[in-house]
Amino acid sequence: MTTRSTPDTRPAQRRSGSRAGSSWRLPVALIVLSLIPVVFGFVRLVEIAGGPQVMPENPRIDASPSPVVIHVVGAALYAFVGAFQFSARLRRRHLAWHRKAGRVLVVAGSAVALSGLWMTLFYSGAPGGALLWAVRLTVSSAMFVFIGLGFAAVRRRDIPAHRAWMIRAYALALGAGTQIFTEGIGEAIAGTGDLSKGISVSSAWVINAAIAEWAVRRHA
Ligand code: HEM
Repeated sequence: MTTRSTPDTRPAQRRSGSRAGSSWRLPVALIVLSLIPVVFGFVRLVEIAGGPQVMPENPRIDASPSPVVIHVVGAALYAFVGAFQFSARLRRRHLAWHRKAGRVLVVAGSAVALSGLWMTLFYSGAPGGALLWAVRLTVSSAMFVFIGLGFAAVRRRDIPAHRAWMIRAYALALGAGTQIFTEGIGEAIAGTGDLSKGISVSSAWVINAAIAEWAVRRHA
């Protein structure tokens, strides 16, 4: 009996170990992607609190800092805690945590989207021109609506719809991480003008939205 159970158990443990590893890979990758904008955000918060000026000046933030405070705190929470919602293992084993964290994330994600919308509407002269203004208006509104649709879906126990809307909302938020790459490439190719900025920042949201659609359809 011992000789039969040993070879059966070990591969099972190894398999479960590798599943655990792959279950953490996605949350870790998502946290890494959002790390740079979140760190920038906290440096900006230190400046707002009266610390040393290390980032390029932003007159819009100097004139009205409160939306940025809400935006950065909400984004850090949404990006970091939200990443763990994508661990299938954590969802399966700690459903109560997924639910509690999910409620917090609905508030944090809505705060990110609404503060982004507020800044788009009321900060004048942001780089990126009319194109980026229109895209930010669309993205922030869409993110807020997607979170609402994801929450409504889980209330009526429609898990596939809940999953799809939450993936879409999270992908839009993480556009801030993808923008680090697209803006870098855009600046290297076409300089720092409004059109270059508008296209490079917007393309990050297009890329993330496409990946989200792929993930939603792949699972379906
Ligand atoms: C994880 C998600 C996000 C993070 C970490 C993040 C981070 C930041 C940071 C750090 C700033 C301040 C930039 C500075 O100090 O100059 C900022 C500004 C801003 N963000 Fe976000 N953001 C996120 C998502 C979004 C989303 C989804 C939108 C929706 C369109 C958005 C719209 C804006 C706008 C309009 C500004 C002001 C830009 C300006 O006037 O210069 N953000 N964000």
